[in-house]
Amino acid sequence: MHRRIIAPGALAAASLMLAIPASAASHSPGAPGIGDPYYPAYGNGGYDVSHYDLRLKYQPATDELSGTATILAKMTQDLSSFDLDFLLDVSEVRVNGAKASFTTSGQHELVVTPKKPLDKGTSITVVVRYSGVPSTKSAYGFSTWHRTPDGAVAADEPEAAWWWYPSNDHPLDKATYDVSVAVPNGTQAISNGTLQSTRSQLGSTRYNWRQNKPQATYLTTLAVGKFDITTSTSEGGVPVVNAYSKDLGDNDGAARASIERTGELVDWLSGYFGPYPFNSAGGYVPNTTTGYALETQTRVYYSPKQFANGANSSLVVHELAHQWYGDSVSLKGWKNIWLNEGFASYAQWLWSEHEGEGTTQELADYVYASHPADDPFWTVKPGDPGPDHQFDDAVYDRGALAIQALRNAVGDDAFFAILKGWPQEHAYGNASIADFQAYAEKVSGKSLGALFDVWLFQPVKPASGALAKSAGEAFAKSAGVQPRSWKKIVAAHGAH
Ligand code: ARG
Ligand code: ZN
Repeated sequence: MHRRIIAPGALAAASLMLAIPASAASHSPGAPGIGDPYYPAYGNGGYDVSHYDLRLKYQPATDELSGTATILAKMTQDLSSFDLDFLLDVSEVRVNGAKASFTTSGQHELVVTPKKPLDKGTSITVVVRYSGVPSTKSAYGFSTWHRTPDGAVAADEPEAAWWWYPSNDHPLDKATYDVSVAVPNGTQAISNGTLQSTRSQLGSTRYNWRQNKPQATYLTTLAVGKFDITTSTSEGGVPVVNAYSKDLGDNDGAARASIERTGELVDWLSGYFGPYPFNSAGGYVPNTTTGYALETQTRVYYSPKQFANGANSSLVVHELAHQWYGDSVSLKGWKNIWLNEGFASYAQWLWSEHEGEGTTQELADYVYASHPADDPFWTVKPGDPGPDHQFDDAVYDRGALAIQALRNAVGDDAFFAILKGWPQEHAYGNASIADFQAYAEKVSGKSLGALFDVWLFQPVKPASGALAKSAGEAFAKSAGVQPRSWKKIVAAHGAH
């Protein structure tokens, strides 16, 4: 009798066991990285996020951040589990409403295993409930969460998200955002896009920010502190929201004299790059001790010390140029950083010429002449600098030089058509240097392989003939003379 009862059960178990391996074979764990050789663990495999909804609460006094992230994503493969990049303490994860198990792994991986495997092509909703003190967290021995006397800031490249929200942390996976942060009354929360509303209740004020265009994770910023917020609209119709820490001391005037020109400079850049791609612009200056700026989408991050020598409109031009080159058109992988920094630097050169402080050709000649052939400057390949040299001077200066060489090779008509056409061609998407070369060849009708190779991919100083407009003539004339704009231009370099 026992046998006869057990036998069907065993059969059922056997068929179940057959079924499980079949499903496990097609549903496998998602990769812990998106596949960027510069940063193998950044981003994740198997899904694509379309929207982040962050509903948070922050306490400046204790640096405690808590809340929920609701993430909308689509599966790009059959998954048994997937990763998010995150450092704070997670108390619950739900996938499509059902509690999922989770664990941490590597430097910044949150591994989520849903109750049911996820099929390619389906959409999921992930809710992550979390809390933590971001300043106590680090990965690879560093932190990009900047505490200030009155709050904190998340703004860094290529990583800043891990300290404040779970994400697929790579520019390849862009998404829209609602960032809602409650802070004590008298304190402000600044983020990207438009301020939809604020609401005060029981001693705290909630700021609801919306970014309605795709945004890379590293371009998503949060600043909490005591700010003075200014609003205006550019002549061309772009709404501008700026914020200044109330604690900028002697740098306050120069910061405002720079950043209050955002509307004017957005309109000026539109003449070269086409319509401004977002529905808000602006910048903010928290009272950090950092020394760099970052093109955080629609709301540029600036450091107070960048204004210690007076206003710098060139720096603002650099960061605003990134809104087209870097933010709307993002990188396919970090090795393509020239598409961001080369063009943002070249925009400064155009501004210098506009201001009568040195033409783009004079700047190119100066960069070329100021680095002798044995200068290690030339060993950095702007087209593939490696992660350790991603923000090297060469990526900016030799990067802009390469753009002047391109201009001289294709002529002004084709060059300015490329400069304006490219942000349209890949608006809100991702692109590589190879894509850019193909586009420049299409627009100019010229074959540009050798030019790109010499200026971007060879670790040696190119011959000057390739640079000078008419065989070394302009080059010889101005070489060695530092253009008046130079000091303001280099102040925008990322390594500062
Ligand atoms: N993309 C920034 C800029 O050139 C550079 C940021 C570099 N990051 C840093 N932590 N220094 O505007
Ligand atoms: Zn830049």
